Formats: sequence, structure tokens, C-alpha cells
Amino acid sequence: MLKCSFIEGAILHRLKYGKGRGQNLAKAVGMKSNKNRTIVDATAGLGYDSFILASLGANVTLIERSEKIHKLLQEGINEAKEYGGHISSIVNRMDLIFGDSKIIIPKLSPEVILVDTMYNERKKSALVKNNMRLVREIVGSDLDQIELIKIALECTKNRVVVKQPRYAEPNDEIRKYSHQILGKTVRYDVYMKV
Ligand SMILES: C[S@@+](CC[C@H](N)C(=O)[O-])C[C@H]1O[C@@H](n2cnc3c(N)ncnc32)[C@H](O)[C@@H]1O
Repeated sequence: MLKCSFIEGAILHRLKYGKGRGQNLAKAVGMKSNKNRTIVDATAGLGYDSFILASLGANVTLIERSEKIHKLLQEGINEAKEYGGHISSIVNRMDLIFGDSKIIIPKLSPEVILVDTMYNERKKSALVKNNMRLVREIVGSDLDQIELIKIALECTKNRVVVKQPRYAEPNDEIRKYSHQILGKTVRYDVYMKV
């Protein structure tokens, strides 16, 4: 059964062993130095990327358009708030909004925007990815990804970070990224504001 939890499971492993601000996600959003970013996660999903960013000091606004996923995420956030301590202080930096980022982002003019839409070829491996397959069964494919990235590029004050499987096809319909951060299975295409 699909569940969102910040108090147990794979996310806690990622929190503990994720290399802090040295991890690729943090580098991609520009948190490697002491800077604390204000970030919009345009594709919240189960909120795991946002949770890691908030654990590093970022204030994150999460946007999710699937009613079911939004509800699961809200339940996960509520449970973490009740849990107290460090976990609760992390989720207190996460602000969840229901709706379509294509409509909401222009009203927010965010500093940093993270985009991690459903990619068709995501393969089985770890627990988080199993969860992602269950998310896909609910939300399907995000066929408006390019439109979302274009809106994000217009509205960002600093950068747009597009998270994709490492060997995903390049996004030919948008301008070339400013730089890339490559991991073993995931890559981040970073588009600085021009
Ligand atoms: C791959 S998942 C994101 C996983 C997330 N990064 C995490 O760590 O859990 C993609 C999610 O983005 C949502 N989504 C896609 N396009 C969206 C849009 N335009 N506005 C809001 N949510 C969107 C989908 O409903 C889905 O839940």
C-alpha cells in the first residue's frame, strides 16, 4: 500500500547517510555553500526531495496536483509534525499547496524551482522507486512536462533544476541547460536564470 512517511523507512536512511549539502540534489539547487534557499518543488509527489532540502535548511513550498497523492503527503506531514523533535522541525519548513504548478508558479515567482515529473522508463530497484511505481499508477505520465519547465524558466529568480534518470533523452524542446550534475542513476539539469 502506498504511504508517505517521514518517520520511518528509506527516507530516514537518506536523511542520515545522504552527505548533507555535498549531495547532488543540494548542489543542484545551489545549497552547497552556506546559502539557505527558498525553493518551490513543482512536482511534490511523496515529498522526499523536499524533505531532504528542508533538512538542510531550505524553506520549501511543495505543489501537488493529484488529489490522492496530495492527501497522502498531507498525512505524512501531519504525522511528522506530531512526532516532534528534529523531524517535526524539518517538516515545519515545508508548506504544501494543492494544484497545478503551471498555474501556481507564476503567482509565486520563486528563487529556485525543482521539477521531477514522472519519467516513463524508471526501473525497479530501491524502496523509494517502488513507491514511485505506485505513484505512477495513480497519476500516470506527466505529459505536460515541457510546458511546466517553460513556465518555470520564465518565473524563476535564480534557477530551475530538472531531475531525470541519468540516461533520459535530452530535452530538445527547451534551451540547453547551464550545467549538469550527474549521479549514478539520476541527473540534474540546471538552468540558471538568464
Ligand atoms: C516523480 S513524482 C515526484 C517525486 C518527488 N520528487 C519525491 O521526492 O517524492 C512526480 C509528481 O509530480 C506531480 N506533478 C506533475 N506535474 C505537476 C504539475 N504541473 N503540478 C503539480 N504537480 C505535478 C505528479 O502528480 C506526481 O505526484
